[in-house]
Amino acid sequence: MSLDAVLARIDETLPQALDRLLELLRIPSISTDPAYAADCARAADWLVRDLQDLGFEAASRPTPGHPMVVGHGSGNGAGGAGRHLLFYGHYDVQPVDPLTLWDRDPFDPQVQDTARGKVIRGRGSADDKGQLMTFLEACRAWKAVHGSLPGKLTIFLEGEEESGSPSLIPFMRENAAELHADIALICDTGLFDDQTPAITTMLRGLLGEELTIHAADKDLHSGSYGGAAINPIRVLSKILAGLHDGSGRIQVPGFYDGVGELPDAIRAQWQSLSFDHAKFLGDVGLSVPAGEQDRTPLEMLWSRPTAEVNGIWGGYTGDGFKTVLPAEAHAKISFRLVGAQDPEAIRVNFRKWVEDQLPADVTVTWKGHGTSPAGVMAIEDPAFEAARLALGEEWGVPAAYIGCGGSIPIAGYFKTELGMDAMLIGFGRDDDQIHSPNEKYDLECFHKGIRSWARVLARLA
Ligand code: BES
Ligand code: ZN
Repeated sequence: MSLDAVLARIDETLPQALDRLLELLRIPSISTDPAYAADCARAADWLVRDLQDLGFEAASRPTPGHPMVVGHGSGNGAGGAGRHLLFYGHYDVQPVDPLTLWDRDPFDPQVQDTARGKVIRGRGSADDKGQLMTFLEACRAWKAVHGSLPGKLTIFLEGEEESGSPSLIPFMRENAAELHADIALICDTGLFDDQTPAITTMLRGLLGEELTIHAADKDLHSGSYGGAAINPIRVLSKILAGLHDGSGRIQVPGFYDGVGELPDAIRAQWQSLSFDHAKFLGDVGLSVPAGEQDRTPLEMLWSRPTAEVNGIWGGYTGDGFKTVLPAEAHAKISFRLVGAQDPEAIRVNFRKWVEDQLPADVTVTWKGHGTSPAGVMAIEDPAFEAARLALGEEWGVPAAYIGCGGSIPIAGYFKTELGMDAMLIGFGRDDDQIHSPNEKYDLECFHKGIRSWARVLARLA
């Protein structure tokens, strides 16, 4: 059978596939830091060349931010359903700091032996370069065996996903006809557990806010002025401490507007999953679920909104000690959103809630970061069941329909901007340490991910 030949080819050429991934991982395409803009462009160019090698007509397409990579290809198909598929992934990565917590250079990737098997260590290995390459490698093996790509394919790779996708909607609108396909496939999510493949049907949205609390017009001696002068760190920490009540409920007025209860069908899907929250938390040195206390751990992760302080700074944080009463204090806060929560309304309400708590002499300035709404994917298209079967064949257990606590802005935009359903299939594991020091992607996930896509393509393309 020709699929077997493709799978055999994937197995035989895994070392070369790995070398290509390592080459891509060496490019430090950090999208949020302007210092790496040329590297983002270099990663885009690398992918364009690789797509061209695969027979795609591909180009790096400029945007006001980092380029998009778009490729078009066609092939003879495998007698499947003959769908036009669009594949999405992102080539940008998160910043690497704190660098001191990495065991090696984040952009000098390496395959390492660990107690749990071989891992590809390096920034972007799991999020998302390793994952996006699983799809391109499946296409490569297909082409080697059949002489052509598996069918009509559009490849769409973004370089701004990790910084909120600011250029995405304008680009999708300007190129709507070109980007239209029967269904979008996204590889940027995870397995359900180490050996259970998954199709993600719910993603949380995101709202980012950054604030600076200003007090005195200069830093002061904390002995000369302390007691009489207001400390902005004290103001900031008091406000942030009030974000949640004792039961974990968020206190910003109107925050829960648009948060619904879980649809019955999804509740039933999740109830059938054996999620071991003690292990999930135990693996990172924790034990007690810290969200809204009347919710299950899976709800806390997948279907309830959150408010998290991602960074807080001010005053003197260097070595030693300095008795300073600072002029400013800062924080970055992100809200994960669900259901029909409106990011812009929450921004307005949050800012007012903070401003209403400021004492005399204290002001606040704001920097808004990106937003994306929450997404629920429709799964009525028979492509979902076909992909579920294909994944089950590769992994030996049926694929689970799951939620994801993270955000992938484009997932919902495929529907709203292009009228297409999106299917999220990914091979990450919980311990991949995405966004953290020592990010890794298991070689097994890379390998089986490539094989999984070959099976999905055989059924859909
Ligand atoms: N690949 C992640 C989304 C994800 C997170 C999937 C966790 C599975 C588990 C994605 O690249 C990501 O990190 N998105 C950001 C978006 C943000 C920076 C706009 C996120 O969720 O924080
Ligand atoms: Zn990602």
